[in-house]
Amino acid sequence: MVVYHPSSFFQGKKILLGVTGGIAAVKVVSLARYLTEKGARVTTCMTRHALRIVGRTSFEAVTGERVYIDSFAEGASLAHITLARSHDLILIAPATANIIGKMAHGIADDLLSTLLLVEPQKVLLAPAMNVSMWRNPVVQENVKILVERGVRIIPPSSGKLACGEEGEGRLPEVEELVEAAFQALHTPRDLAGKKILVTAGATREWVDPSRFISNPSSGLMGCALASVCRAWGGEVKLITGNLSVRVPFGVVQEVAETALAMREAVFRSFGWCDVLIMCAAVSDFRPASFSPSKIKRGESAFTLSLVPNPDILKEIGEKKGTKIVVGFCAETENVLEEAWRKLRAKNVDMMVANLVGQEETGFTAPTNKVWIVDRKGNEVVLPLLPKVDVAERIVSHLVSHFLS
Ligand code: CTP
Repeated sequence: MVVYHPSSFFQGKKILLGVTGGIAAVKVVSLARYLTEKGARVTTCMTRHALRIVGRTSFEAVTGERVYIDSFAEGASLAHITLARSHDLILIAPATANIIGKMAHGIADDLLSTLLLVEPQKVLLAPAMNVSMWRNPVVQENVKILVERGVRIIPPSSGKLACGEEGEGRLPEVEELVEAAFQALHTPRDLAGKKILVTAGATREWVDPSRFISNPSSGLMGCALASVCRAWGGEVKLITGNLSVRVPFGVVQEVAETALAMREAVFRSFGWCDVLIMCAAVSDFRPASFSPSKIKRGESAFTLSLVPNPDILKEIGEKKGTKIVVGFCAETENVLEEAWRKLRAKNVDMMVANLVGQEETGFTAPTNKVWIVDRKGNEVVLPLLPKVDVAERIVSHLVSHFLS
């Protein structure tokens, strides 16, 4: 399971998990387990209706912590205050129409709804319900009231619902809930108000309807950067070639399969962004012509004629103005020399060089070994790290040297 957060991010974080009475409550046991395994201290507060769906023992077993339910049976009459004050994040999943309505209108008739009044700025709500309930104007108005007050919402996903109907209202998958929690908890947030364009994955250059030229890039490094940029507060758009990984929570995706399509997409969005991170593995060549019918096997040798693709990053570098541009380069040798050469040749602000062709680093590996060089003369060598940890270091370098 790929989840885009740095490996030790949840270590020591205090998360209050509020569980209300939707069928999706069963899914939230896995969320509690994941966060606990990653080092978070997860305390659960359940409503009485949630208890009809999943037992408190499930949460006690996976978190190792006590589960709170009733305001007056917890041994402390001020449980609502101490619980709200002593946690970094209050994540309500699933959030029923009832708890959303109660929070929007200040109704505090049980422990969970009462503690929501204490620290509303810590609340992250993950609504889940039937599609008609979700679309009901009264629910939408309540959500709007909360959003306007600064409460963060994880939008429900679409698909088959517990009631058998199809539509919006599903609780997002555990990975997405974890990423939403990571993005909500992350400090600093120096990218707040900034628009970040990230490219990821491998382009495909079609030879005929059944064959293409490509490379093994999974898109993991670019997706990790997109999630981390969101966590630093940025608005993120991801332009992707072929991906073999999931797009992270909270990121808008545009697909651009070939180098020419990616060039067009990058140029179209470049005016929008403040920072471009060009992480995609773009093919340097494409077939001189596309054969609309499948090229048949023959007895003699077959020569494929290739023409160069435009160097998107170089073209952007020529007209980037004051925008910040970060390039990547994949090398099998002379990594640092190549990084400095490409930084200057492409006129970019930062170049991140990675070693490819080895088991633990490069295209398909979950880890990466990178060097960062920048136009201010800085040169940083990072150890071998999981790709999301590398992404965190890259964004930190970007912020401290170019955006502070
Ligand atoms: N890049 C690009 N357009 C291309 C090829 C690459 O914009 N047609 C971008 C990549 O996204 C990356 C950077 O250029 O950010 C460096 O890519 P790399 O393949 O390492 O460099 P090249 O200039 O293609 O040099 P070479 O392949 O000869 O090493």
